[in-house]
Amino acid sequence: MAQLLGRKPAALLGVATGSTPLPVYRALAAQVAAGRADVSRARIAQLDEYVGLPPEHPESYRSVLAREVLEPLGLGLEAFMGPDGTATDVQAACEAYDRALAAAGGVDLQLLGIGTDGHIGFNEPCSSLASRTRIKTLTEQTRIDNARFFDGDISQVPHHVITQGIGTILEARHLVLLATGEGKADAVAATVEGPVAAICPASALQLHPHATIVADEAAASKL
Ligand code: GLP
Repeated sequence: MAQLLGRKPAALLGVATGSTPLPVYRALAAQVAAGRADVSRARIAQLDEYVGLPPEHPESYRSVLAREVLEPLGLGLEAFMGPDGTATDVQAACEAYDRALAAAGGVDLQLLGIGTDGHIGFNEPCSSLASRTRIKTLTEQTRIDNARFFDGDISQVPHHVITQGIGTILEARHLVLLATGEGKADAVAATVEGPVAAICPASALQLHPHATIVADEAAASKL
């Protein structure tokens, strides 16, 4: 990220939520604090969002990214773009976000995590590999996985989300998928060595000319 910003100070960085990328955000903030990276002109783009959570809810992804990315980097909301999870016309909000990303010149580098079922963003298994930003229904497994952010109470986890589509994600110039821990090992193996298939949304990375997967030993243990 710091290298990219050195070449392109106004780069559009696509960021993911979840616990996996947090060390990356902390490392970038440390580089900024040490004067080794300049994010003053960087722009930040959101990958996905819960539908129906007010933006000020501590677990709306807008709040999470403000807390974990924008504030540590010293950036304000003017540097941020994301879909409106509270829009009355969700479909129109999704289409507006895709247009806004294109109008901003497209995402330069998209960070991704991976779900235990191989989802990227909130593109659950069987999402079209050509999909655009749209509303999706979460699987029970993803709601169980994410309940930890809602005091372990699955009833608090929204059922619906907005996510950049797989086709939208593939338009970023560089994709970097991060995976840690044994729980991701099956998903990483299916992503890297399985067929390109909607059952494992992350397998679409095989179609991208500049995709990087960074996995720790546990997550890479089934390769
Ligand atoms: C959520 C997010 C994904 C993220 C996934 C994995 O479902 N929508 O973008 O990749 O969680 O999260 P974690 O990194 O905490 O395992």
